[in-house]
Amino acid sequence: MSKETGRTLKGGEPKQLPIYPHKNKLVQAVRHNPFLIVTGETGSGKTTQLPQYLYQAGYCKDGKVGVTQPRRVAAITVAQRVAQEMKCTLGREVGYQVRFDDCTSQDTVVKYMTDGCLLREVLADPSLSQYSVVILDEVHERSLNTDILLGLLKNVFCNSAGATKGRSFPLKVVVMSATLETDKLSAFFNDCPVFEIPGRVFPVTCTFGSAVGPKDVESSFYVKEVVKVALDVHTSEQAGDILVFLTGQSEIEHACDLLFDKAENIDYRYDVLDRTVEGILILPLYGSMPTDQQRQIFQPPPPGIRKCVVATNIAATSLTINGIKYIVDSGFVKQLNHNSRVGMDVLEVVPISKSEAQQRAGRAGRTSAGKCFRIYTKEFWEKCMPEYTVPEIQRTSLTAVILTLKCLGVHDVIRFPYLDCPEERFILEALKQLYQFDAIDRRGKVTKLGELMVEFPLHPGLTRALLKAASLGCEDLLLPVAAMLSVENIFFRPGHPDKQKEAAKKHRALAATTGSMNDFATLLSVFNSCKSSDRPSAWCKENWIHWRALKSAFSVETQLREILLRLQQRRDFPVETFDGNKSELFRRCLCAGYFTNVARRSVGKVFCTMDGHGSMVHIHPSSSLFEQEAEVNWVIFHDVLVTSKMFIRTACPIRYEWVKDLLPKLHEVDVYELSSVARQEVTEDEMVKWESREAAKRQQEGSAEDAL
Ligand code: CDP
Ligand code: MG
Repeated sequence: MSKETGRTLKGGEPKQLPIYPHKNKLVQAVRHNPFLIVTGETGSGKTTQLPQYLYQAGYCKDGKVGVTQPRRVAAITVAQRVAQEMKCTLGREVGYQVRFDDCTSQDTVVKYMTDGCLLREVLADPSLSQYSVVILDEVHERSLNTDILLGLLKNVFCNSAGATKGRSFPLKVVVMSATLETDKLSAFFNDCPVFEIPGRVFPVTCTFGSAVGPKDVESSFYVKEVVKVALDVHTSEQAGDILVFLTGQSEIEHACDLLFDKAENIDYRYDVLDRTVEGILILPLYGSMPTDQQRQIFQPPPPGIRKCVVATNIAATSLTINGIKYIVDSGFVKQLNHNSRVGMDVLEVVPISKSEAQQRAGRAGRTSAGKCFRIYTKEFWEKCMPEYTVPEIQRTSLTAVILTLKCLGVHDVIRFPYLDCPEERFILEALKQLYQFDAIDRRGKVTKLGELMVEFPLHPGLTRALLKAASLGCEDLLLPVAAMLSVENIFFRPGHPDKQKEAAKKHRALAATTGSMNDFATLLSVFNSCKSSDRPSAWCKENWIHWRALKSAFSVETQLREILLRLQQRRDFPVETFDGNKSELFRRCLCAGYFTNVARRSVGKVFCTMDGHGSMVHIHPSSSLFEQEAEVNWVIFHDVLVTSKMFIRTACPIRYEWVKDLLPKLHEVDVYELSSVARQEVTEDEMVKWESREAAKRQQEGSAEDAL
């Protein structure tokens, strides 16, 4: 693709977007209302245009216009697009900030960022004094951080004094959503006005397939089916681009390989770029893709070529690709869910909701009539797909956000204004974890350690391990590990079976160099070996490691180190000492954060978790413990993957003595204490009611278990 195409705008001409005729009215609506809700079909121009209108109307004179996105890719690509439209260099007037990647400068006045980033900014500056307008975008996605921001903004700015406290001018809040739930949102913000951008939607004909039925919820053969349908569309339908919905990176890469192979019927090629074969241009799109490749997605295909984008749910609402006429819908999505069987969040592939399926289909009808091919049966739709997607706040761990709220002085975390309340037990679970990590005390007050922990954009357990290491002066062992666990998977797994074997062999060899069956140590060793190599990218290629992922790990490590250095300057930073060898030191630090993820050998190859859930788990084949687990009785692990079985990944053997004193913490606090901690002040009456409700719940759960 020529360099010039990057400079000229292709597709979605700003003046032709549905939002354009409403420009002046929109700016006025912002001017006259502290809170405003803006809705409109996806692709109408909300995300890219409204911030520019506000810029033109002078809103960047006093402060910035900040726009949040639940997904990092959306924040980055939209910022790129807007910088291009405003004819400025990305990172100057228009910039973006996502976790571990800050592309802004002193000149930045239009800032796109993830909702997580804005939440961190609220911690440092509760009145958001740098902003004149804050736009919470994609609110219909109901991401955890966006939901928390909604509550915080309501809390601070609905109390009249809050709106100006610590600021010289009032803040404007705009909430943008793709049509859903506007009444509810408006009621939430004291009946604030709703601005609707009339959309242009064309009819989309949807057909059901026969490949995936109610019994196929757990199988992944849908990838092949999706590929087949996409090729059918390519060979039998009129001109128009195809958008295929799958669930994640490896699946998407696999589907692209299959499509590529089938389209040209040639051997596997390592090079995933430039897949123009037989009149079809195959492009993957997922969250962790390099940005230059992402940009390609938005370029129109060369004349006579059909574009086929194979994407995750990111293409459902966050990103609009012009020219799409056909949708192939797998019916599945990868979702982080709190799994009560294991008592932690796990990434699962689950059926999408009906509303999500409609949203996906809608992507085919933006500019003309389109078609949506669902590979699942009508029965699957009726029996397996829920009406709506449950908001993230009601299905994931709240530990990190509850700590943030506590640090912001929100003590009563149960009566915080949630748009949809999470179940009380999720809040209590989060408090329990924070207590276990010593981030809050028995009264629910944030401890010194908690104040340190909140500074790190990491999972609290990982932060706890890192701080333990820092207090022992061995942060060099944990910083790279924390960085490696914060980037996408570094181990490259090629599509072709022969190459797969070759890669697996290299990966095993890398693990063997540490000689410890410790997957965390492997991460550390890969990090250090590559860093000290003369030709790091060649080293990665040779060892089947994603160089790009490792490069981001280097940058993440530097950033974590900066945060740590800043905290270590505090006089009260903890200092401890330790006698013992390095391998033990390393694993003991890990135990400080992962004692909640301990498993003990049960029978044969089965391990049993120790957190009270007593789940039966297996070592994942990718772990260096997989083949040698016979020698191991106790392990800690980073996460759980649920497929046909429950697999623990990134594990390491430990000794029982190292966690002996920590394990009782898992069962130490009881519901009474937690409920009073959550509410700050609990009356006797409430306590009694709470107790009987809990007892009833336990009884119900018990009888449900008996029934199984
Ligand atoms: O936010 P909303 O869904 O209402 O629309 P938008 O994201 O502002 O998109 C407006 C137009 O810009 C669409 O036609 C997109 O295809 C286009 N766009 C693009 O070409 N490249 C991007 N990186 C982002 C948007
Ligand atoms: Mg948008």
